[in-house]
Amino acid sequence: MKELFLNNQKWAEKVEEDNPDFFQDLSEEHAPEYLWIGCSDSRVPANEIIGLMPGELFVHRNVANLVVHSDLNCLSVIQLAVEKLKVKHVIICGHYGCGGVTASVSNQKFGGLIDNWLLNVQDVEYLHRAAIDYSGQEERTINQVCELNVIEQAVNVSMTSIVLDAWARGQKLVIHGWIYSMTDGLLKDLGVNISNAEEMRSQYNSAIEDINRRYSGG
Ligand code: CO
Repeated sequence: MKELFLNNQKWAEKVEEDNPDFFQDLSEEHAPEYLWIGCSDSRVPANEIIGLMPGELFVHRNVANLVVHSDLNCLSVIQLAVEKLKVKHVIICGHYGCGGVTASVSNQKFGGLIDNWLLNVQDVEYLHRAAIDYSGQEERTINQVCELNVIEQAVNVSMTSIVLDAWARGQKLVIHGWIYSMTDGLLKDLGVNISNAEEMRSQYNSAIEDINRRYSGG
């Protein structure tokens, strides 16, 4: 644990050296433009992979980057981000090889509470089962479900009363669906960029079709 405090001291010194007023300025204002909803997986560090400094990204992470309509934690983060901080973009970011999705596809149980949480991923898989390619390698099937899960969660964000009310007020807010690859460190836009309630369905349909087309035929 000592090492972590030493790391922290070195980091704070380095930031201060590059920008002497950094912490002072930051302590006076909190105005991030983006809300990131991603997986808790330690290999997907939100700020680092998109090169943003403290103060630039509001973050919520949970296992399998899920937005569940009864999750008060996630909903509170979205409300604060949209109504108080007035972020302009909400990014749902999944990642290939997600452990939560793997557990769902391979029907593996961890035992206890987490299995209930991951039923939300199983719901996504069940919803799209006719279009999911189970014929090839399991890794490929998992990645298809990882992508489908991002789109479902992006729509879940869009359907919250928080986001619908913001759009109804004329607030500019775009919901995006991305996926991250740990093997090359790169992000991919899954083609869902929802900026009003009217285009939600068409964005959803075209993104889902695009994913299933790419994965069809092994
Ligand atoms: Co994950």
